[in-house]
Amino acid sequence: MSEETQEPRGLSRRLTQYGDQGFARFLREAFLKAQGLTGDALKGPVVGIASTASDFNPCHATAPQLVEAIRRGVTMAGGLPFAFPTISVHESFAFPSSLLLRNLMAMDTEEMLRALPVDAVVLIGGCDKTIPAQIMGAVSADVPALVVPVGPMLAGMDQGERLGACTDCRRLWSARRAEEIDDARLERAHEHLMPTHGTCMVMGTASTMACLAEALGFVLPGGSTIPAVHSERLRMAERTGRRAVEMARSGGPLPRSLVTESSVKNAVTVLQALGGSTNALIHLAAVAGRAGLRLDLEEVDRIGRETPVLVDLKPIGRGFVEDLHQAGALPAVLRRLAKRLDLAVATAEGATLAEVLEAWPEWVDEAVVRPLDRPVAAGEALAVLRGSLAPDGVVLKRAAATDALLQHEAPAIVFDGLADLAARIDDPDLAVTPEHVLVLRGVGPIGAPGMPEAGSIPIPAKLARAGVKDMVRISDARMSGTAYGTVLLHVSPESAAGGPLALVRDGDVIRLDFADRRLDLLVDEGELTRRRAALEPRAVPPRGYARLWAEHVQQADLGCDFDFLCGEGTP
Ligand code: FES
Repeated sequence: MSEETQEPRGLSRRLTQYGDQGFARFLREAFLKAQGLTGDALKGPVVGIASTASDFNPCHATAPQLVEAIRRGVTMAGGLPFAFPTISVHESFAFPSSLLLRNLMAMDTEEMLRALPVDAVVLIGGCDKTIPAQIMGAVSADVPALVVPVGPMLAGMDQGERLGACTDCRRLWSARRAEEIDDARLERAHEHLMPTHGTCMVMGTASTMACLAEALGFVLPGGSTIPAVHSERLRMAERTGRRAVEMARSGGPLPRSLVTESSVKNAVTVLQALGGSTNALIHLAAVAGRAGLRLDLEEVDRIGRETPVLVDLKPIGRGFVEDLHQAGALPAVLRRLAKRLDLAVATAEGATLAEVLEAWPEWVDEAVVRPLDRPVAAGEALAVLRGSLAPDGVVLKRAAATDALLQHEAPAIVFDGLADLAARIDDPDLAVTPEHVLVLRGVGPIGAPGMPEAGSIPIPAKLARAGVKDMVRISDARMSGTAYGTVLLHVSPESAAGGPLALVRDGDVIRLDFADRRLDLLVDEGELTRRRAALEPRAVPPRGYARLWAEHVQQADLGCDFDFLCGEGTP
């Protein structure tokens, strides 16, 4: 191919359309000369660095340092680094829910990658929704992309007890509700739950998604678990900048070639072995959907039955992500799983997974990365059930559930949305026993909106004070990857979309039959038909992003992505 017919590269890529390409390049360079760059400096391949630094995202406080390290790596390899901002989403600063903003961030990332003259991009993400949003955007834009996760916090320590966000935030808050600890103890823990910059340091959604990004080939091997404040993370960022220049020069691999049936199946296997977050199923479904694939929930369940939980981290186990990193990092886990993985998939380094594992040090700390015959939990990490209450699926973090509650049949107590829950859950007159099934609805993708992490319904205060630690809880919400309990989530279709959850009334009997993977509402069909006919049509917000969301968001089993963003079509 002659040079004239090749796709433009570097700063000649995606010139603003004035009807005169030469003038567009001349003007672009004039603006860069105004920054003090010489003509020689403008010749290299361009690597974009998507920065998600934000004062409203404390998890990403180290992003500016990572930008500088990536920039250094790009420059050392002869590339031209350009940092640019995108939306940044933090779990505690996203009303009404962070998932609502994930799709907006994915659109922002995709459209910036379509608009900017980048030959490759390094995406700095970390807090729960950010890495999924970035990979979704990168797959749709199909620009060579690498991810530098900001990395996990170090564990905290309070009077000899290691503490971590947010599993221990929830545990201690529940203990205070149950009056097992006093305000002084809670306040002391408050100072130590998050002792450094970085993402939550248990195997919650952030760490799970960083590890899955590595498994999918977007993070350099071993890079997902390095603590945020270790210098090793800066060196990894520098190496990522260098690798991005190689990708910019070669034009690949492209994200769509990384997200394949094999790599998604590998990611599900890794998710199960990590005992990872239930949220990962939504994000994996969305990432797969961008590549024109469908996450098969039956296969998720099947892989779960065959894959033991190997990594001993909270909330299922005992340790923190820094322990996994010191124990051999994700490649040590991948090596344990080698016979269950497709080792021919590509990695971020360019080598196959087989080649990466061949070169990775053999040492592993078996206390943290367990052998296959000595798993952390007896059962699988994540299970998928169906039944008359959830025709399109419901997710259970099996390994964090109570065995005695897995076969359970009892009457329901129904809460209609979060305001109703807040108003009544601690009411001393609530007629609730430990056997009741707590149902929360109106908190799905459309309902809340944005499917908030409200699925781990608090144990009613009077039961908590009596020592009840767990109950069967069902909702169309999500729950934090740091949470635990016999909590059935992501009921699809949700109640706001007319799913059977909308038909449940107080006192209806619900049967959880985990052995048969079923969740059923034991009410006869005639009665359900009468109730269905009485449902009110849902109102759609009149304008803006809320309207776009309400009209186009898909259900949890499809990843809550917008219907018009799925598949491989390129505008
Ligand atoms: Fe950011 Fe947990 S809140 S990772």
